[in-house]
Amino acid sequence: MLTDVRIAPSILAADYLNLGSELEKIKTADYVHFDVMDGVFVPNLSFGPGLLAEVKKATSVPVDVHLMIADPDRRYAAYVDAGADVITFHYEAQLHAHRTLSAIREAGALAGIALNPGTPASVLESLIEDLDMVLVMTVNPGFGGQKFIERSYDKLRQVRAMAEEHGVDPLVEVDGGVGVANAEQIVRSGANVLVAGSSVFGSTDPAAAIASIREAGNRGLAQGD
Ligand code: DX5
Ligand code: ZN
Repeated sequence: MLTDVRIAPSILAADYLNLGSELEKIKTADYVHFDVMDGVFVPNLSFGPGLLAEVKKATSVPVDVHLMIADPDRRYAAYVDAGADVITFHYEAQLHAHRTLSAIREAGALAGIALNPGTPASVLESLIEDLDMVLVMTVNPGFGGQKFIERSYDKLRQVRAMAEEHGVDPLVEVDGGVGVANAEQIVRSGANVLVAGSSVFGSTDPAAAIASIREAGNRGLAQGD
């Protein structure tokens, strides 16, 4: 169990023309959340491995790569090569989840699976012992700035209960609509890594926003699940 929640600002919400200085502002974060969208699995397009390599050069904060792409089985390697520290891919986007998890881990990154809001936690039953992170999407993937789906609290509790039954303790990340107002309840429900896009980069002081979300999250951790 982590003793502190981890905060992962999503640079999808950053000022792209000033990405270097945006990364400076989030030096106190635990991860840089790097959203990869291919215009196929999700309607939007975002970043690729070239930009990831540049981000890795510009920051010492570990980079958490969220692949919202079709066929991650065949495309994850470019992101490992570009320096990803954590790679999550979508359960809905592939056929060979177990093989892809193993391959990412063998390549030296942490491996995780992301679940869309419409995908039940139960699909992880045969995978939970072989992954480092579960990413529970709390909005439909593709865009920043959406509203947190309240039903997600149940899924977080289910993921946490499943992990306990299997005797494992993966990182449980939430992504979408996370901010200071809901961080405590999210963590109390079982998450310990909080992605925050607009609530960090939409703030006039991103470092202060990170600190407040962390403080709220840690209150949830103190209360247990
Ligand atoms: C959405 C992305 C998120 C997004 C979150 O598909 O995966 O990481 O940046 O943005 P906010 O925190 O604004 O909901
Ligand atoms: Zn994301």
